[in-house]
Amino acid sequence: MCLNRIYWVSSSKTIRLDRFLATVTDYSRSDAKRLIKAGEVSLDGSLLTDPRAAVAEDADIRLRGQPLRSAQPRYFMLNKPQDYVCAARDRRHLTVLDLLDEDNPEKLHVAGRLDIDTTGLVLLTDDGNWSHAVTSPKQRCWKRYWLRTAEPIAEAAITKFAKGIFLKDDKQRTLPAELEILDSCEARLRICEGRYHQVKRMFGALGNAVIELHREAIGGIELDETLEEGEYRPLTAEERASVTTPNE
Ligand code: URA
Repeated sequence: MCLNRIYWVSSSKTIRLDRFLATVTDYSRSDAKRLIKAGEVSLDGSLLTDPRAAVAEDADIRLRGQPLRSAQPRYFMLNKPQDYVCAARDRRHLTVLDLLDEDNPEKLHVAGRLDIDTTGLVLLTDDGNWSHAVTSPKQRCWKRYWLRTAEPIAEAAITKFAKGIFLKDDKQRTLPAELEILDSCEARLRICEGRYHQVKRMFGALGNAVIELHREAIGGIELDETLEEGEYRPLTAEERASVTTPNE
């Protein structure tokens, strides 16, 4: 069957077939049109010969039977172990990208870094708008941490963090943060910024030291408990959509 003029539309974003082909291959737009008209392209096993057909970006589109790599951005969550750095490259340490078994891992970046000794939820994507929404303080995307301190945590820390405190060398107070004391040296902290070593510096400003730090959640995305340290998985559509970018 030939699907000429049948417009395949789904809830995901659609794109003109010739544009899709020219985006995900080295063919020019006019070459893409020619190939489509010549019956070289299929959608879900059926030929599609109209270059203007609107297709879902995540559809199974093939050129001469070969699946075309989708131009869809990628989103992953990873359970970061200690001793890995959140950087594209590092001379001395393994990076979180070394834990990925994906094509072109160098095209992915971390949305909200963790220190080398911090464990837990790391988001990786190649969608710069989306990672900006995760990290920009203006977007108020909350991050939740579990932590252990060297000294008992004073009750007064709850109010201090809620009001915001001045960190050494920073001109502005931290944005209001929520501290829940779980035990004398154990707490949960929710912050919506990602300043350099922020959680450690916040406790440092109160004369205490964070000795264990683990990120449990970012916005509506909870670290999947089935992921062992070092494991990762793609985000679900709901998880991805729980972070809204300014254009959405
Ligand atoms: N705050 C820190 O101090 N370290 C992290 O890794 C994350 C937040």
